[in-house]
Amino acid sequence: MRVLQDLAALVGAAHVLGAESQTDSYCVDERALYHGRALAVVRPGTRQELVRVMSLCHAAKLAMVPHGGNTGYCGGATPDSSGSQLVISLERLDRIIAIDTVAATLTVEAGVTLADAQAAATAAGLLLPLSMGSQGSCQIGGNLSTNAGGLAVLRYGTARDLTLGLEVVLPDGRLLSQLQGLRKDNTGYDLKQLFIGAEGTLGIISAATLKLFPRPRAMQTVFAAVRDVGAATTLLSHVRAQLGDNVTSCEYLSANAMAQVAALLTDVQRPFTVEYAHYVLLEWAEFGDRHGPSAAHDIEQLFSPPIADGLVLDAVIAHSEKQRLALWRLRENVPAAEKALGGSIKHDISVPLGEVAEYVGRTSTQLLARWPTLRLSVYGHIGDGNVHFNVLAPIELDAAAFKRTHGADISALVHEIAQTMGGSFSAEHGVGLLKRDLLAQYAGGPRLEAMRAIKDALDPGGLMNPGKLL
Ligand code: MLT
Ligand code: ZN
Repeated sequence: MRVLQDLAALVGAAHVLGAESQTDSYCVDERALYHGRALAVVRPGTRQELVRVMSLCHAAKLAMVPHGGNTGYCGGATPDSSGSQLVISLERLDRIIAIDTVAATLTVEAGVTLADAQAAATAAGLLLPLSMGSQGSCQIGGNLSTNAGGLAVLRYGTARDLTLGLEVVLPDGRLLSQLQGLRKDNTGYDLKQLFIGAEGTLGIISAATLKLFPRPRAMQTVFAAVRDVGAATTLLSHVRAQLGDNVTSCEYLSANAMAQVAALLTDVQRPFTVEYAHYVLLEWAEFGDRHGPSAAHDIEQLFSPPIADGLVLDAVIAHSEKQRLALWRLRENVPAAEKALGGSIKHDISVPLGEVAEYVGRTSTQLLARWPTLRLSVYGHIGDGNVHFNVLAPIELDAAAFKRTHGADISALVHEIAQTMGGSFSAEHGVGLLKRDLLAQYAGGPRLEAMRAIKDALDPGGLMNPGKLL
């Protein structure tokens, strides 16, 4: 095929992968829900090459599937099964372009892993607060294309909130570059917002300028057993009232989630000798020298009203970085624990913060009324109103068969209750292939029409990541 020869001449034959054995790993998503086939995988080595690759594809009317670290949960980076789509991998665009310690910004290419971007910020004495379990392999381009959330949204916001500037290659190869990283710029439409969360359907993000923050002097981490889900959000309000904006994370684990992860991580000591029904991992940042050796005493004081009120039943404080990381491992390994048990029917809903307890209660009751032996693995970013209301098959049944038979009904119920409570069916994982029908179902006419109009305006040939999102 002529275009493949042109691509090889452009990026080097070694970076146009054609054999199935070479393209396989690019054609299956992280959860192995989708198995596609690619015409080829092309790996441009510079942003200029990316521009020219996309111009060639545009001229040849080739569909393009952008591919980052492939850690997404919704199949957003997987080609379809036609064998006619070209996968464009950003993995070689892995340069740190600039770090500005005065403006506190970091400019990176799209293929830089989140961990490498964090390390660059750390080396400059600053903090890139975006963080998540997959940070060793997920890439900045994918983080922005899916508007990733992660573990510190409570304090620092999502990937969108952390983006000051963006460079995007449009579907026809034109470069839209706004990497200046200005904190203020009121010159018409803020176009970067269109591409963040667009899942590669409007163009390919090639670089970004991200906000950095002062590094905290220390993090304080408390793992608490709480009376119920409502106590978790009330506890957060109490702690925020005392510590203000320094609270960075408020993560929830149900008893089942905790039991699963404790069974997986046999080397991590459980925080309590008895089992509770609900747990919260709370973390906040300390700046300056407000706390000293009396930190533990201060924390005890902070927690004494919620303990007296019966909201907090028990709590442990991390006294060292090692203890802190052990507590975080409990939270971060819940998805791995579910996987080890045969996988879960995953959900990623959000509701207004004040409704989370009602949502969890109502959804649990309705699911268990219909499937009494389901195992509910509820956990997640409760401080953001975002819970992963995951569902494992009854222990006596085959997980895959159960999912095939009942998965759709279970998910419909989980999503419908979120919708009726003013929530979202996808708080952080995005839409991709997996939730496209849900977007069509729930977005509403005008919103969907506006999205389609934007798509048609920027990608009239429908070449960018076809079949995803819309
Ligand atoms: C998490 O918060 O751990 C993930 O977003 C949820 C998951 O892996 O299902
Ligand atoms: Zn999550």
